[in-house]
Amino acid sequence: MNVTIIGTGYVGLTTGVALAYLGHRVTCVDKNPRIVERLAKGEATIHEPGLEELLRRAASHLRFQTAIPDLKGQGVVFIAVGTPTKHNGDADLQYVDAAAKEVAERIQPGARLVVVNKSTVPIGSARHVEGIIRRSLEGRGTEAQVWVASNPEFLAEGRAMHDTLYPDRVVIGADDPAAVGLLHDLYAPLLEQTFAPPVETPRPERYALPPLITTTPTSAELTKYAANAFLATKISFINEFSRLAEHVGADITEVARAIGLDTRIGPKFLQAGIGWGGSCFGKDTRAILATAKSYDYAMPIVESAILVNERQRLHVIDKLQRHLKVLRGTTVGLLGLAFKGNTDDLRDAPALTLIEHLHERGAVIKVHDPVAMDNARRLYPELPVTYCCDPEALAAGCDALVVVTDWPEYTRLPLGAMKARMKGELLLDARNLLNPESAREAGLTYVGIGR
Ligand code: NAD
Ligand code: UDX
Repeated sequence: MNVTIIGTGYVGLTTGVALAYLGHRVTCVDKNPRIVERLAKGEATIHEPGLEELLRRAASHLRFQTAIPDLKGQGVVFIAVGTPTKHNGDADLQYVDAAAKEVAERIQPGARLVVVNKSTVPIGSARHVEGIIRRSLEGRGTEAQVWVASNPEFLAEGRAMHDTLYPDRVVIGADDPAAVGLLHDLYAPLLEQTFAPPVETPRPERYALPPLITTTPTSAELTKYAANAFLATKISFINEFSRLAEHVGADITEVARAIGLDTRIGPKFLQAGIGWGGSCFGKDTRAILATAKSYDYAMPIVESAILVNERQRLHVIDKLQRHLKVLRGTTVGLLGLAFKGNTDDLRDAPALTLIEHLHERGAVIKVHDPVAMDNARRLYPELPVTYCCDPEALAAGCDALVVVTDWPEYTRLPLGAMKARMKGELLLDARNLLNPESAREAGLTYVGIGR
Protein backbone atom coordinates (compact mmCIF):
# COMPACT_ATOMS: atom_id res chain seq x y z
CA MET A 1 0.00 0.00 0.00
CA ASN A 2 1.15 3.61 -0.55
CA VAL A 3 1.89 5.28 2.76
CA THR A 4 2.88 8.89 3.37
CA ILE A 5 4.07 9.99 6.78
CA ILE A 6 4.12 13.66 7.74
CA GLY A 7 6.69 14.27 10.48
CA THR A 8 9.72 12.02 10.77
CA GLY A 9 10.50 12.21 14.49
CA TYR A 10 10.39 9.43 17.08
CA VAL A 11 6.92 8.27 16.03
CA GLY A 12 6.91 9.07 12.30
CA LEU A 13 10.31 7.56 11.61
CA THR A 14 9.70 4.37 13.57
CA THR A 15 6.29 3.89 11.98
CA GLY A 16 7.65 4.58 8.50
CA VAL A 17 10.57 2.21 8.85
CA ALA A 18 8.37 -0.55 10.29
CA LEU A 19 5.71 -0.22 7.57
CA ALA A 20 8.40 -0.24 4.85
CA TYR A 21 9.92 -3.36 6.43
CA LEU A 22 6.46 -4.97 6.26
CA GLY A 23 6.43 -4.34 2.49
CA HIS A 24 4.50 -1.07 2.06
CA ARG A 25 5.82 1.77 -0.11
CA VAL A 26 6.51 4.57 2.34
CA THR A 27 7.30 8.24 1.78
CA CYS A 28 8.47 9.99 4.94
CA VAL A 29 8.12 13.76 4.84
CA ASP A 30 9.76 16.18 7.24
CA LYS A 31 9.97 19.94 6.91
CA ASN A 32 13.43 19.86 8.47
CA PRO A 33 15.87 19.38 5.54
CA ARG A 34 18.72 18.23 7.84
CA ILE A 35 16.61 15.31 9.05
CA VAL A 36 15.65 14.35 5.50
CA GLU A 37 19.22 14.62 4.24
CA ARG A 38 20.62 12.34 6.94
CA LEU A 39 17.82 9.77 6.64
CA ALA A 40 18.21 9.65 2.87
CA LYS A 41 21.84 8.63 3.50
CA GLY A 42 20.67 5.82 5.77
CA GLU A 43 21.73 7.59 8.98
CA ALA A 44 19.36 7.34 11.96
CA THR A 45 18.47 10.79 13.29
CA ILE A 46 17.39 9.48 16.71
CA HIS A 47 18.91 6.89 19.01
CA GLU A 48 16.62 3.84 18.92
CA PRO A 49 17.89 0.28 19.26
CA GLY A 50 17.50 -1.62 15.97
CA LEU A 51 16.35 1.42 13.99
CA GLU A 52 19.41 2.03 11.83
CA GLU A 53 19.65 -1.62 10.76
CA LEU A 54 15.98 -1.69 9.75
CA LEU A 55 16.33 1.64 7.99
CA ARG A 56 18.98 0.06 5.76
CA ARG A 57 17.10 -3.19 5.29
CA ALA A 58 13.86 -1.43 4.27
CA ALA A 59 15.63 1.23 2.14
CA SER A 60 14.15 0.03 -1.16
CA HIS A 61 10.63 0.71 0.16
CA LEU A 62 11.46 4.06 1.77
CA ARG A 63 11.81 7.62 0.48
CA PHE A 64 12.60 10.73 2.51
CA GLN A 65 11.68 14.19 1.30
CA THR A 66 10.74 17.66 2.50
CA ALA A 67 7.69 18.04 0.22
CA ILE A 68 4.51 16.02 0.39
CA PRO A 69 4.11 14.04 -2.86
CA ASP A 70 0.92 14.18 -4.94
CA LEU A 71 -1.61 11.97 -3.19
CA LYS A 72 -3.39 9.92 -5.82
CA GLY A 73 -5.06 6.54 -5.95
CA GLN A 74 -5.48 4.53 -2.76
CA GLY A 75 -3.32 5.13 0.27
CA VAL A 76 -2.84 6.07 3.89
CA VAL A 77 -1.40 9.35 5.17
CA PHE A 78 -0.16 9.54 8.74
CA ILE A 79 0.12 12.85 10.57
CA ALA A 80 2.89 12.30 13.14
CA VAL A 81 3.98 15.84 13.99
CA GLY A 82 4.54 17.25 17.47
CA THR A 83 1.66 18.37 19.71
CA PRO A 84 3.46 20.40 22.38
CA THR A 85 1.90 22.05 25.42
CA LYS A 86 0.27 25.46 25.23
CA HIS A 87 0.33 27.94 28.14
CA ASN A 88 -2.95 26.60 29.55
CA GLY A 89 -1.74 22.98 29.37
CA ASP A 90 -3.81 22.22 26.29
CA ALA A 91 -2.20 20.52 23.28
CA ASP A 92 -0.98 22.98 20.66
CA LEU A 93 -2.44 21.86 17.34
CA GLN A 94 -0.58 24.33 15.11
CA TYR A 95 1.65 21.64 13.56
CA VAL A 96 -1.26 19.25 13.05
CA ASP A 97 -3.31 22.01 11.42
CA ALA A 98 -0.45 22.98 9.11
CA ALA A 99 0.18 19.33 8.19
CA ALA A 100 -3.53 18.75 7.49
CA LYS A 101 -3.65 21.80 5.20
CA GLU A 102 -0.51 20.73 3.36
CA VAL A 103 -1.86 17.19 2.94
CA ALA A 104 -5.20 18.49 1.67
CA GLU A 105 -3.46 20.59 -0.99
CA ARG A 106 -1.72 17.52 -2.41
CA ILE A 107 -4.83 15.34 -2.72
CA GLN A 108 -5.53 14.63 -6.37
CA PRO A 109 -8.93 14.03 -8.02
CA GLY A 110 -10.19 10.48 -7.59
CA ALA A 111 -7.92 9.70 -4.63
CA ARG A 112 -9.16 7.26 -2.00
CA LEU A 113 -7.32 8.06 1.23
CA VAL A 114 -7.37 7.56 4.93
CA VAL A 115 -5.69 10.41 6.78
CA VAL A 116 -4.63 9.15 10.19
CA ASN A 117 -4.04 11.20 13.32
CA LYS A 118 -1.03 9.34 14.75
CA SER A 119 0.01 12.31 16.86
CA THR A 120 -1.48 12.43 20.35
CA VAL A 121 -4.31 14.90 19.84
CA PRO A 122 -7.20 16.22 21.92
CA ILE A 123 -10.75 14.95 21.72
CA GLY A 124 -12.44 16.10 18.53
CA SER A 125 -9.23 16.30 16.50
CA ALA A 126 -10.30 13.71 13.91
CA ARG A 127 -13.37 15.79 13.16
CA HIS A 128 -11.23 18.95 13.21
CA VAL A 129 -8.72 17.57 10.68
CA GLU A 130 -11.56 16.26 8.54
CA GLY A 131 -13.00 19.80 8.43
CA ILE A 132 -9.66 21.27 7.32
CA ILE A 133 -9.37 18.73 4.51
CA ARG A 134 -12.98 19.00 3.40
CA ARG A 135 -12.80 22.80 3.20
CA SER A 136 -9.59 22.63 1.16
CA LEU A 137 -11.02 20.06 -1.28
CA GLU A 138 -14.20 22.08 -1.70
CA GLY A 139 -12.18 25.27 -2.22
CA ARG A 140 -10.20 23.61 -5.01
CA GLY A 141 -13.20 21.79 -6.42
CA THR A 142 -11.39 18.46 -6.04
CA GLU A 143 -13.48 15.28 -5.87
CA ALA A 144 -11.85 12.63 -3.70
CA GLN A 145 -12.82 10.10 -1.04
CA VAL A 146 -11.02 11.01 2.18
CA TRP A 147 -11.67 9.63 5.64
CA VAL A 148 -9.95 10.76 8.83
CA ALA A 149 -9.18 8.18 11.50
CA SER A 150 -7.56 8.25 14.91
CA ASN A 151 -4.84 5.63 15.39
CA PRO A 152 -2.99 6.49 18.61
CA GLU A 153 0.59 5.37 19.05
CA PHE A 154 1.68 3.57 22.22
CA LEU A 155 5.39 3.03 21.56
CA ALA A 156 7.86 3.91 24.30
CA GLU A 157 11.20 5.43 23.38
CA GLY A 158 14.24 3.23 23.71
CA ARG A 159 12.12 0.29 22.55
CA ALA A 160 10.23 2.01 19.76
CA MET A 161 11.13 -0.48 17.03
CA HIS A 162 10.15 -3.38 19.24
CA ASP A 163 6.86 -1.78 20.31
CA THR A 164 5.96 -0.98 16.70
CA LEU A 165 6.59 -4.48 15.39
CA TYR A 166 5.09 -6.25 18.41
CA PRO A 167 2.32 -3.99 19.74
CA ASP A 168 0.06 -5.02 22.64
CA ARG A 169 -2.90 -3.84 20.54
CA VAL A 170 -3.77 -1.64 17.58
CA VAL A 171 -6.49 0.95 18.16
CA ILE A 172 -8.40 2.44 15.25
CA GLY A 173 -11.02 5.10 15.77
CA ALA A 174 -12.99 5.67 12.59
CA ASP A 175 -16.62 6.33 11.70
CA ASP A 176 -16.50 4.70 8.27
CA PRO A 177 -16.01 0.95 7.70
CA ALA A 178 -14.02 1.73 4.52
CA ALA A 179 -11.39 3.53 6.61
CA VAL A 180 -11.24 0.66 9.08
CA GLY A 181 -10.88 -1.78 6.16
CA LEU A 182 -7.94 0.10 4.65
CA LEU A 183 -6.15 0.38 7.98
CA HIS A 184 -6.84 -3.26 8.71
CA ASP A 185 -5.14 -4.19 5.43
CA LEU A 186 -2.22 -1.90 6.22
CA TYR A 187 -1.67 -3.48 9.63
CA ALA A 188 -2.48 -7.07 8.57
CA PRO A 189 1.20 -8.22 8.64
CA LEU A 190 1.47 -6.92 12.23
CA LEU A 191 -1.89 -8.25 13.36
CA GLU A 192 -1.11 -11.68 11.93
CA GLN A 193 2.69 -11.46 12.49
CA THR A 194 3.37 -12.81 9.01
CA PHE A 195 6.74 -11.05 8.62
CA ALA A 196 10.18 -12.45 9.42
CA PRO A 197 11.31 -10.79 12.66
CA PRO A 198 14.50 -8.77 12.16
CA VAL A 199 17.49 -10.20 14.06
CA GLU A 200 18.06 -6.94 15.97
CA THR A 201 14.43 -6.78 17.07
CA PRO A 202 13.37 -10.37 17.69
CA ARG A 203 9.79 -11.33 18.44
CA PRO A 204 9.36 -11.83 22.19
CA GLU A 205 8.77 -15.35 23.40
CA ARG A 206 5.13 -16.08 24.14
CA TYR A 207 4.00 -13.06 22.11
CA ALA A 208 0.22 -13.18 21.55
CA LEU A 209 -1.22 -11.74 18.33
CA PRO A 210 -2.30 -8.15 19.00
CA PRO A 211 -6.03 -7.49 18.97
CA LEU A 212 -7.38 -4.79 16.67
CA ILE A 213 -9.66 -2.51 18.64
CA THR A 214 -12.02 -0.59 16.41
CA THR A 215 -13.95 2.22 17.98
CA THR A 216 -15.07 5.80 17.46
CA PRO A 217 -12.48 8.55 16.91
CA THR A 218 -13.44 10.08 20.26
CA SER A 219 -12.88 6.84 22.19
CA ALA A 220 -9.56 6.27 20.40
CA GLU A 221 -8.44 9.80 21.25
CA LEU A 222 -9.41 9.38 24.90
CA THR A 223 -7.74 5.93 25.05
CA LYS A 224 -4.34 7.48 24.38
CA TYR A 225 -4.68 10.02 27.17
CA ALA A 226 -6.11 7.44 29.57
CA ALA A 227 -3.20 5.07 28.89
CA ASN A 228 -0.54 7.71 29.53
CA ALA A 229 -2.31 9.15 32.56
CA PHE A 230 -2.70 5.65 34.02
CA LEU A 231 0.98 4.77 33.54
CA ALA A 232 2.09 8.12 34.98
CA THR A 233 -0.22 7.60 37.95
CA LYS A 234 1.13 4.10 38.54
CA ILE A 235 4.67 5.49 38.79
CA SER A 236 3.57 8.36 41.01
CA PHE A 237 1.76 5.86 43.24
CA ILE A 238 4.90 3.82 43.85
CA ASN A 239 6.93 7.01 44.31
CA GLU A 240 4.46 8.22 46.92
CA PHE A 241 4.85 4.93 48.77
CA SER A 242 8.63 5.13 48.39
CA ARG A 243 8.63 8.25 50.54
CA LEU A 244 6.56 6.52 53.19
CA ALA A 245 8.94 3.56 52.98
CA GLU A 246 11.77 5.93 53.88
CA HIS A 247 9.82 7.15 56.92
CA VAL A 248 8.92 3.71 58.23
CA GLY A 249 12.15 1.96 57.24
CA ALA A 250 10.85 -0.38 54.51
CA ASP A 251 12.43 -1.20 51.14
CA ILE A 252 10.21 -0.02 48.25
CA THR A 253 11.90 -2.34 45.75
CA GLU A 254 10.75 -5.32 47.81
CA VAL A 255 7.29 -3.84 48.32
CA ALA A 256 6.97 -3.18 44.56
CA ARG A 257 8.06 -6.72 43.73
CA ALA A 258 5.59 -8.16 46.21
CA ILE A 259 2.60 -6.15 45.01
CA GLY A 260 3.58 -6.51 41.34
CA LEU A 261 3.29 -10.29 41.59
CA ASP A 262 -0.43 -9.81 42.10
CA THR A 263 -1.65 -10.35 38.55
CA ARG A 264 -4.29 -7.66 39.07
CA ILE A 265 -1.51 -5.11 39.65
CA GLY A 266 1.32 -6.40 37.43
CA PRO A 267 5.06 -5.77 37.82
CA LYS A 268 5.60 -3.00 35.25
CA PHE A 269 5.81 0.73 35.95
CA LEU A 270 6.44 0.16 39.64
CA GLN A 271 10.05 1.30 39.61
CA ALA A 272 10.39 4.07 42.20
CA GLY A 273 12.96 6.74 41.50
CA ILE A 274 13.32 10.34 40.45
CA GLY A 275 9.87 10.39 38.82
CA TRP A 276 8.73 10.28 35.24
CA GLY A 277 9.90 12.57 32.45
CA GLY A 278 9.92 12.46 28.67
CA SER A 279 7.93 14.05 25.91
CA CYS A 280 4.59 12.42 26.68
CA PHE A 281 3.57 11.94 30.31
CA GLY A 282 3.92 15.58 31.40
CA LYS A 283 2.44 16.98 28.20
CA ASP A 284 -0.45 14.51 27.98
CA THR A 285 -1.49 14.61 31.65
CA ARG A 286 -1.66 18.41 31.43
CA ALA A 287 -3.56 18.26 28.15
CA ILE A 288 -6.21 15.91 29.52
CA LEU A 289 -6.63 18.14 32.58
CA ALA A 290 -7.17 21.07 30.21
CA THR A 291 -9.78 19.05 28.31
CA ALA A 292 -11.55 18.14 31.57
CA LYS A 293 -11.46 21.77 32.70
CA SER A 294 -13.19 22.86 29.52
CA TYR A 295 -16.10 20.67 30.69
CA ASP A 296 -15.82 22.17 34.18
CA TYR A 297 -14.73 18.73 35.39
CA ALA A 298 -11.87 18.10 37.85
CA MET A 299 -9.56 15.05 37.70
CA PRO A 300 -7.90 14.93 41.15
CA ILE A 301 -6.10 11.63 40.53
CA VAL A 302 -4.28 12.95 37.46
CA GLU A 303 -3.59 16.26 39.21
CA SER A 304 -2.04 14.38 42.12
CA ALA A 305 0.07 12.23 39.82
CA ILE A 306 1.64 15.41 38.44
CA LEU A 307 2.11 16.92 41.89
CA VAL A 308 3.76 13.78 43.29
CA ASN A 309 6.06 13.69 40.29
CA GLU A 310 7.19 17.30 40.75
CA ARG A 311 7.78 16.60 44.45
CA GLN A 312 9.79 13.47 43.68
CA ARG A 313 12.35 15.33 41.58
CA LEU A 314 12.86 17.88 44.35
CA HIS A 315 13.13 15.08 46.89
CA VAL A 316 16.32 13.93 45.16
CA ILE A 317 17.86 17.40 45.64
CA ASP A 318 16.75 17.48 49.29
CA LYS A 319 18.30 14.06 49.88
CA LEU A 320 21.55 15.22 48.37
CA GLN A 321 21.52 18.33 50.55
CA ARG A 322 20.72 16.30 53.66
CA HIS A 323 23.72 14.01 53.07
CA LEU A 324 26.20 16.63 51.87
CA LYS A 325 24.92 19.35 54.27
CA VAL A 326 26.21 22.17 52.06
CA LEU A 327 25.76 22.17 48.30
CA ARG A 328 27.53 25.44 47.53
CA GLY A 329 30.99 24.64 46.24
CA THR A 330 30.50 20.85 46.24
CA THR A 331 31.04 18.88 43.04
CA VAL A 332 28.20 16.60 41.98
CA GLY A 333 28.50 14.10 39.12
CA LEU A 334 25.30 13.17 37.30
CA LEU A 335 25.19 9.75 35.67
CA GLY A 336 22.73 10.26 32.84
CA LEU A 337 20.98 13.15 31.11
CA ALA A 338 18.33 11.42 28.96
CA PHE A 339 14.86 11.10 30.52
CA LYS A 340 15.31 7.31 30.55
CA GLY A 341 17.82 4.74 29.35
CA ASN A 342 18.29 3.76 25.69
CA THR A 343 17.26 7.13 24.29
CA ASP A 344 18.95 10.41 23.40
CA ASP A 345 15.76 12.35 24.22
CA LEU A 346 16.06 15.17 26.75
CA ARG A 347 12.48 16.39 26.68
CA ASP A 348 11.32 16.99 30.28
CA ALA A 349 14.36 15.05 31.52
CA PRO A 350 14.66 14.97 35.34
CA ALA A 351 18.40 15.63 34.88
CA LEU A 352 17.56 19.14 33.62
CA THR A 353 15.58 19.87 36.81
CA LEU A 354 18.48 18.59 38.93
CA ILE A 355 20.96 20.76 37.03
CA GLU A 356 18.77 23.84 37.45
CA HIS A 357 18.39 23.38 41.21
CA LEU A 358 21.96 22.30 41.89
CA HIS A 359 23.24 25.28 39.95
CA GLU A 360 20.94 27.62 41.89
CA ARG A 361 22.37 26.23 45.11
CA GLY A 362 25.94 26.81 43.97
CA ALA A 363 27.05 23.24 43.22
CA VAL A 364 29.63 22.45 40.54
CA ILE A 365 28.04 19.96 38.13
CA LYS A 366 29.69 17.30 35.99
CA VAL A 367 27.67 15.06 33.68
CA HIS A 368 27.98 11.89 31.66
CA ASP A 369 25.51 10.21 29.32
CA PRO A 370 26.30 7.41 26.85
CA VAL A 371 24.40 9.09 23.96
CA ALA A 372 22.53 12.27 24.99
CA MET A 373 25.51 14.63 25.51
CA ASP A 374 25.57 15.80 21.87
CA ASN A 375 21.87 16.68 22.07
CA ALA A 376 22.45 18.51 25.36
CA ARG A 377 25.30 20.60 23.91
CA ARG A 378 23.19 21.42 20.84
CA LEU A 379 19.86 22.12 22.56
CA TYR A 380 21.12 23.73 25.78
CA PRO A 381 24.42 25.43 24.92
CA GLU A 382 24.28 27.41 28.19
CA LEU A 383 23.91 24.36 30.47
CA PRO A 384 26.20 25.01 33.47
CA VAL A 385 27.90 21.61 33.41
CA THR A 386 31.18 19.93 32.48
CA TYR A 387 30.72 17.04 30.07
CA CYS A 388 32.76 13.92 30.82
CA CYS A 389 33.65 11.21 28.33
CA ASP A 390 33.16 8.28 30.72
CA PRO A 391 31.95 7.50 34.26
CA GLU A 392 35.51 7.41 35.66
CA ALA A 393 36.28 10.89 34.33
CA LEU A 394 32.94 11.98 35.79
CA ALA A 395 33.83 10.64 39.23
CA ALA A 396 37.15 12.53 39.41
CA GLY A 397 36.97 15.15 42.18
CA CYS A 398 33.25 14.58 42.92
CA ASP A 399 31.81 14.85 46.42
CA ALA A 400 28.79 12.86 45.29
CA LEU A 401 27.51 10.91 42.31
CA VAL A 402 23.83 10.69 41.35
CA VAL A 403 22.41 7.96 39.09
CA VAL A 404 19.80 9.95 37.15
CA THR A 405 19.11 7.76 34.11
CA ASP A 406 18.55 4.02 34.07
CA TRP A 407 21.07 3.24 31.34
CA PRO A 408 21.72 -0.53 31.26
CA GLU A 409 25.49 0.15 31.16
CA TYR A 410 25.27 1.91 34.52
CA THR A 411 24.51 -1.44 36.13
CA ARG A 412 28.11 -2.39 35.25
CA LEU A 413 29.94 0.73 36.48
CA PRO A 414 33.58 0.32 37.60
CA LEU A 415 32.61 1.48 41.09
CA GLY A 416 35.99 0.77 42.75
CA ALA A 417 37.90 2.81 40.17
CA MET A 418 35.30 5.57 40.36
CA LYS A 419 35.44 5.74 44.16
CA ALA A 420 39.25 5.99 43.98
CA ARG A 421 38.94 9.16 41.90
CA MET A 422 36.24 10.82 44.01
CA LYS A 423 36.75 13.41 46.73
CA GLY A 424 33.73 12.20 48.72
CA GLU A 425 31.91 8.87 48.90
CA LEU A 426 28.21 9.52 48.42
CA LEU A 427 26.39 7.58 45.69
CA LEU A 428 22.75 8.65 45.41
CA ASP A 429 21.02 6.09 43.24
CA ALA A 430 17.93 8.02 42.13
CA ARG A 431 16.79 5.03 40.02
CA ASN A 432 17.43 2.19 42.46
CA LEU A 433 19.47 0.76 39.61
CA LEU A 434 22.65 -0.42 41.30
CA ASN A 435 23.31 -3.21 43.72
CA PRO A 436 23.71 -1.49 47.13
CA GLU A 437 26.09 -4.24 48.32
CA SER A 438 28.48 -3.76 45.38
CA ALA A 439 28.47 -0.01 45.99
CA ARG A 440 29.27 -0.48 49.67
CA GLU A 441 32.03 -2.97 48.85
CA ALA A 442 33.56 -0.27 46.62
CA GLY A 443 33.67 2.01 49.68
CA LEU A 444 30.73 4.19 48.66
CA THR A 445 27.92 5.39 50.90
CA TYR A 446 24.91 4.08 49.01
CA VAL A 447 21.61 5.96 49.22
CA GLY A 448 18.64 4.80 47.16
CA ILE A 449 15.03 5.92 46.88
CA GLY A 450 12.55 4.42 49.33
CA ARG A 451 14.95 1.87 50.78
P1 NAD B 1 9.12 14.79 17.16
O1 NAD B 1 9.23 16.18 17.60
O2 NAD B 1 10.22 13.83 17.40
O3 NAD B 1 8.84 14.77 15.58
C1 NAD B 1 7.94 15.59 14.91
C2 NAD B 1 8.53 15.89 13.53
O4 NAD B 1 7.52 16.51 12.74
C3 NAD B 1 9.70 16.86 13.53
O5 NAD B 1 10.82 16.24 12.92
C4 NAD B 1 9.21 18.07 12.73
O6 NAD B 1 10.22 18.67 11.95
C5 NAD B 1 8.14 17.43 11.86
N1 NAD B 1 7.09 18.34 11.35
C6 NAD B 1 6.35 19.24 12.04
N2 NAD B 1 5.48 19.84 11.22
C7 NAD B 1 5.65 19.30 9.99
C8 NAD B 1 5.03 19.48 8.73
N3 NAD B 1 4.03 20.36 8.55
N4 NAD B 1 5.47 18.77 7.67
C9 NAD B 1 6.48 17.89 7.82
N5 NAD B 1 7.10 17.66 8.99
C10 NAD B 1 6.68 18.35 10.07
O7 NAD B 1 7.76 14.24 17.78
P2 NAD B 1 7.43 12.75 18.28
O8 NAD B 1 8.07 12.50 19.57
O9 NAD B 1 7.63 11.80 17.16
O10 NAD B 1 5.86 12.90 18.57
C11 NAD B 1 4.94 13.09 17.53
C12 NAD B 1 3.54 12.89 18.09
O11 NAD B 1 3.39 11.55 18.54
C13 NAD B 1 3.20 13.77 19.30
O12 NAD B 1 1.84 14.11 19.26
C14 NAD B 1 3.45 12.84 20.47
O13 NAD B 1 2.69 13.17 21.61
C15 NAD B 1 3.01 11.52 19.91
N6 NAD B 1 3.66 10.35 20.53
C16 NAD B 1 4.99 10.39 20.83
C17 NAD B 1 5.60 9.27 21.40
C18 NAD B 1 7.05 9.28 21.76
O14 NAD B 1 7.48 8.39 22.47
N7 NAD B 1 7.85 10.23 21.32
C19 NAD B 1 4.85 8.12 21.64
C20 NAD B 1 3.50 8.12 21.29
C21 NAD B 1 2.91 9.24 20.73
C1 UDX C 1 5.46 6.71 27.31
C2 UDX C 1 4.48 5.54 27.24
O1 UDX C 1 5.05 4.42 27.92
C3 UDX C 1 4.18 5.18 25.81
O2 UDX C 1 3.21 4.15 25.76
C4 UDX C 1 3.66 6.41 25.10
O3 UDX C 1 3.39 6.11 23.76
C5 UDX C 1 4.65 7.56 25.21
O4 UDX C 1 4.94 7.82 26.59
P1 UDX C 1 8.08 7.02 27.04
O5 UDX C 1 7.83 8.37 27.62
O6 UDX C 1 8.87 6.90 25.81
O7 UDX C 1 6.68 6.30 26.74
O8 UDX C 1 8.80 6.10 28.13
P2 UDX C 1 8.32 5.22 29.38
O9 UDX C 1 9.05 3.96 29.34
O10 UDX C 1 6.86 5.15 29.51
O11 UDX C 1 8.90 6.08 30.59
C6 UDX C 1 8.36 7.35 30.92
C7 UDX C 1 9.07 7.87 32.15
O12 UDX C 1 8.70 7.13 33.31
C8 UDX C 1 10.60 7.79 32.07
O13 UDX C 1 11.14 8.96 32.64
C9 UDX C 1 10.92 6.58 32.90
O14 UDX C 1 12.21 6.61 33.44
C10 UDX C 1 9.86 6.68 33.99
N1 UDX C 1 9.54 5.41 34.64
C11 UDX C 1 9.04 4.37 33.92
C12 UDX C 1 9.71 5.30 36.03
O15 UDX C 1 10.15 6.23 36.70
N2 UDX C 1 9.35 4.11 36.62
C13 UDX C 1 8.84 3.06 35.95
O16 UDX C 1 8.53 2.04 36.57
C14 UDX C 1 8.68 3.19 34.54
